[in-house]
Amino acid sequence: MTDYQFPAGFVWGSATASYQIEGAAREDGRGESIWDRFSHTPGKVANGDTGDVAADHYHRYQEDVALMKSLGLQAYRFSIAWPRILPDGVGPINEAGLAFYDRLVDALLEADIAPYVTLYHWDLPQALQDRQGGWVSRAIVEQFVHYADVVSRRLGDRVRYWTTFNEPRIFVTHGYMNGQHAPGLTDEASGPQAAHHVLVAHGMAVPVLRQNAGPDAQVGIVYALNPVEAASDNPEVMARQRVLDAQVNRWFVEPVLLGSYPDELADAPGFSALVVEPGDMDLIRTPVDFVGANYYSRIIVGNPQAQSALPDLEDSEVEAAEYTAMGWEIYPQGLYNTLKRLHDRYHPPAIYVTENGAAFDDAIAPDGRVHDERRVAYLRDHFRMAWQAIQDGVPLRGYFVWSLMDNFEWAHGFDKRFGIVYVDYPTGERTVKDSADFYQQVIARNGLPASRTER
Ligand code: FCB
Repeated sequence: MTDYQFPAGFVWGSATASYQIEGAAREDGRGESIWDRFSHTPGKVANGDTGDVAADHYHRYQEDVALMKSLGLQAYRFSIAWPRILPDGVGPINEAGLAFYDRLVDALLEADIAPYVTLYHWDLPQALQDRQGGWVSRAIVEQFVHYADVVSRRLGDRVRYWTTFNEPRIFVTHGYMNGQHAPGLTDEASGPQAAHHVLVAHGMAVPVLRQNAGPDAQVGIVYALNPVEAASDNPEVMARQRVLDAQVNRWFVEPVLLGSYPDELADAPGFSALVVEPGDMDLIRTPVDFVGANYYSRIIVGNPQAQSALPDLEDSEVEAAEYTAMGWEIYPQGLYNTLKRLHDRYHPPAIYVTENGAAFDDAIAPDGRVHDERRVAYLRDHFRMAWQAIQDGVPLRGYFVWSLMDNFEWAHGFDKRFGIVYVDYPTGERTVKDSADFYQQVIARNGLPASRTER
């Protein structure tokens, strides 16, 4: 008996991102991205790993789509590499780059899998970084809107679901403020201005995407959300909790859904010098059709001295908690809390879990399989929380497991395996993990059984 029955029409999918899986970094006219430059800079990525080959999805996309079909996936969230389309960021369009995504979309549709396209999942053309400092320059707004126009003109006849940005908070804080991600800058005060340009670019791209993808188009943005909790009622800890929560959960959400930045950020570095042009906040508030929530874990604030502008999941540890290979606490309740809060506070028309999943130290067993029981448990417990959120009125329309396959986990390189499909990097060979079989059953019955033992 299925006790956690999801609503008819609920969408089950998986997610990836261009730089993390594609490889073919120098093929078919693709330009350099900031992640090519960063990963090739010694000391930036674990083991010196790069996305040059990654999971070689660029060459294996047909096999990957067949795999998705065999798992019964109904949707696939992937991103477009801007430097494949406009190698120099602006200027001549690279037809071969567009053609790749054309083929991918056609293959997905042929397999009855709905494409969910993300325009920006962090791989900015290096030329735009070199020329103008990337997102800190206002010029990028027009450049992004142009890129969005080029892609959606080409794919808009077949792609209905579009997101502008993946996790703007992460690429702004890690890319510009703490240097952990490309382009590796450590100028805390530059963050808010870069963030503002991202938000204006988002707002201006929304009508362009709608225009090019037709009346059925659904356009949204994807956020990284983590409940931020105080470990004690120490006033300094609680004050830091409020600011950190504003940075993590409200900085990019409230301009889009409410039309303003949270007051709690006024004193954070860079905000006092923020240049907001007349009309910007209205542009940013252009209505979206949905919001995507990426959820992995919570943040517990225990140390009032910690650097508040640099949110980190390891601020404080919880005794007896379980952690993934990323060192992230496994906290399914946080998914419920995140979805409920998003709905209660902001009422977006629809919500998707656009990423959720876990890294564990997977290995191929002697029987040739990958028995990732901890990932099965992780997914099951999070799916149940999503179900509960729906019971409690959250307009949750779909769920994308991160990730379809093991991939380049940014500064961690290939060490952290998030896939429900295992990738043997030397050969590119794919092996379906037990979690993929589990997911296939969830999709087939559109729900889960009540008992832990029954799968
Ligand atoms: C998210 C990113 C995604 C992946 C997961 C683990 O922050 O959007 O690319 O790295 O974390």
